[in-house]
Order: sequence, then structure tokens, then C-alpha cells
Amino acid sequence: MGIWYCLPNTTGPSPITALDRQPVNAYSDFLLHYVGTRDLIQQGDAGLYEFRTPPLWGLRARGPYLHDGTAVTVDQAILRHDIQALSSRSRYEQLSTEQRQALLAFLNSL
Ligand code: HEM
Repeated sequence: MGIWYCLPNTTGPSPITALDRQPVNAYSDFLLHYVGTRDLIQQGDAGLYEFRTPPLWGLRARGPYLHDGTAVTVDQAILRHDIQALSSRSRYEQLSTEQRQALLAFLNSL
């Protein structure tokens, strides 16, 4: 799994202990990346080729995937990763069927 999704996110300071700098396992870096899913429609601050990495948290409750909904399954979404995320896709493609199923089960548990 790419380092981008391993970065810890936390809530901000809060006088309420339960909310104070608590870990948020969003599984995203929330940054703009060029991963080859371009449609040349510019959104906000993003360049023509960029999209903001969405949180993988809650993945099972949404879909179809990617900004334009062209990936029906999580498997299809991962296989669309290219350019900056090519190494992640390549490693996914090298997994055995059992390893892929384990990863997809993990992603569906977030
Ligand atoms: C094993 C590693 C990875 C997995 C399992 C993964 C999984 C996913 C999934 C399931 C989506 C679709 C989410 C949705 O539509 O709600 C997605 C989108 C995206 N991912 Fe990844 N990803 C990985 C690595 C990366 C890396 C390394 C980058 C950046 C360098 C990246 C950048 C993005 C971006 C920008 C999108 C949105 C693309 C669009 O909407 O067109 N991902 N990822």
C-alpha cells in the first residue's frame, strides 16, 4: 500500500477530551495527484490532470468510484491508477488472488 494512505491524520485541539487530537484513520493524504484519470474538466484549485485523493474510509458505503463514477468496483478503481500511483497499481497486480481478496476485504472494512 502506498505511503500516502499510511499518513496519520488527527483532529485539532479541543477542550473536549474525546475530540482532542484524536486519530482519524481516513486513509488519504487529501492532496492533489495526477493518477491518469483525467477528463480535462478543471475543478477548484486542481490542475487539468489532478484530483484530490479521497479518503478510503467508508469506501463500502459509496460507489461507483473515481471522480466520474467510471469504476464500478474497488478493484476497477485500483486498476485505473497510473502515473504517480503506478507503483501501487503494479504491486496490486502482482498480488495473488487470495492476497487481492484480503486487501479488498480490508478496504471494505474501513
Ligand atoms: C494500494 C494503494 C492504493 C489503493 C488501495 C487505492 C485505492 C483507491 C480507490 C478505491 C479509489 C477510489 C475512491 C473513490 O472513488 O471514492 C482511489 C482514488 C484515488 N486515488 Fe488511490 N489508491 C492507492 C494508491 C494511491 C496513490 C499512491 C495515489 C497518489 C499518488 C492515489 C491517488 C488517488 C487519487 C487522486 C484518486 C481519485 C482519482 C479520481 O477520482 O479520478 N492512490 N484510490
